[in-house]
Amino acid sequence: MKLWEYRESADYIQKRAGIVGETAVVLGSGFGILSDELEDSRDAACTEIPYSEIPHFPVSTNPSHAGRLLFKQINGRQILLLSGRFHYYEGYSAEQVAYYVRVLHLLGIKNLVLTNAAGGIGEHLQVGDLVLIRDHIKLCAQSPAIGSHFPAFGERFFDMTDTYSTHLREIAKNCARQMGYDLKEGVYAFMAGPQYETPAEIRALKILGADLVGMSTVFEAIAARQCRMNLLGLSCVTNLAAGIASGELADGEVIEQASQIANTAKELLTRILCHLKP
Ligand code: HPA
Repeated sequence: MKLWEYRESADYIQKRAGIVGETAVVLGSGFGILSDELEDSRDAACTEIPYSEIPHFPVSTNPSHAGRLLFKQINGRQILLLSGRFHYYEGYSAEQVAYYVRVLHLLGIKNLVLTNAAGGIGEHLQVGDLVLIRDHIKLCAQSPAIGSHFPAFGERFFDMTDTYSTHLREIAKNCARQMGYDLKEGVYAFMAGPQYETPAEIRALKILGADLVGMSTVFEAIAARQCRMNLLGLSCVTNLAAGIASGELADGEVIEQASQIANTAKELLTRILCHLKP
């Protein structure tokens, strides 16, 4: 991707919406329902922009990830929702998967919340749990930072120590405590998919220290870290990973479980967003 393409995408969004705010939330599998629960923005010039209308934006191939930007507000705070994301398994490059993160950076977004559905590996996790991502493991070689380097998106070599902001995680844990919700934490392992993992792969990931496994989030997290965004990752455990539970994994199960936690997720996100700097 070229720098001018990122700029044209950002300019288009800026011109249509006028006001974007500083916080964006990416709705992963099953979290889409959140978009119905939040109020439309009263300050932005439009309430939504389909990805297909944004110059150079990739177009999602997954029907459960309808692609659009939604301009919302929570307690008067502007919040940008991304309904639909791009997956490596769809055939996009790591750079394309993370494209929107860099556009958000150009738009002035400082806080990014990435949500996803994940398989549970850690023994402390159960189906239906919301889990904060503490760190990640990526075993494949791809990265959105490979290739042309644009200083506008951060340094060529960059630190990944506090990718999932300790500060935001503390805020999230405090919010969960106030709700009486037992918010767990874990390490997310990226697997390219689209096939679910084999039981042997899950055993290997467990030995490596993974608690969660999924097919998204990590490329976006790397791009967000490179441009120094404050990042929060939130997984919904939609199934126990292969070989941990008996039986086969099915996609229906993943989507159904994620929608069941929408209310808890909404309350938690609302509280977290109210604690972020405006
Ligand atoms: N593996 C990979 N991705 C997933 C899973 C899983 O078990 N569940 C939801 N997304």
